[in-house]
Amino acid sequence: MKSPNALILILLATVGISAAFAETAQKAPSAAALNRTVSVTLPDSERVFPPGAGAEIANSQCMICHSAGMVTRQPPLSFGEWKAEINKMRTAYGAPLPAEQVEELATYLTAIKGKQ
Ligand code: HEC
Repeated sequence: MKSPNALILILLATVGISAAFAETAQKAPSAAALNRTVSVTLPDSERVFPPGAGAEIANSQCMICHSAGMVTRQPPLSFGEWKAEINKMRTAYGAPLPAEQVEELATYLTAIKGKQ
């Protein structure tokens, strides 16, 4: 038979553990905390697209799934081929780029990586 002191200790430990669990549950991140935005500074080089008109579209839309280098390391393409490539990203892979930005982005990509 355990001593009454031991029983009290077990009781106190149980209460303590329950309180700890209750505290953990209260500390679960709120939806607002999960939806917070963070800012990251990417190094230069191929991590971002080279500057130019339309670069902000590429930086915001074309690095959702892969790096900028994935785009800039490809062989040069004509304006029409870039348009087709961008539309392939939209239709085959689900890139959320709005249709009305395709021309401007293709112009930019032709400027940085174009062929005749
Ligand atoms: C509009 C900006 C944008 C441009 C420009 C772009 N991508 Fe891609 N991209 C892919 C996938 C998947 C591949 C193929 C990767 C592989 O083959 O390993 C790819 C490959 C490429 C390639 C290599 C050639 C090829 O066709 O495989 C180029 C060039 C390219 N993407 C350009 C998913 C995406 C997604 C995801 C929704 C987005 C957003 C996206 N891509 C946005 C863009």
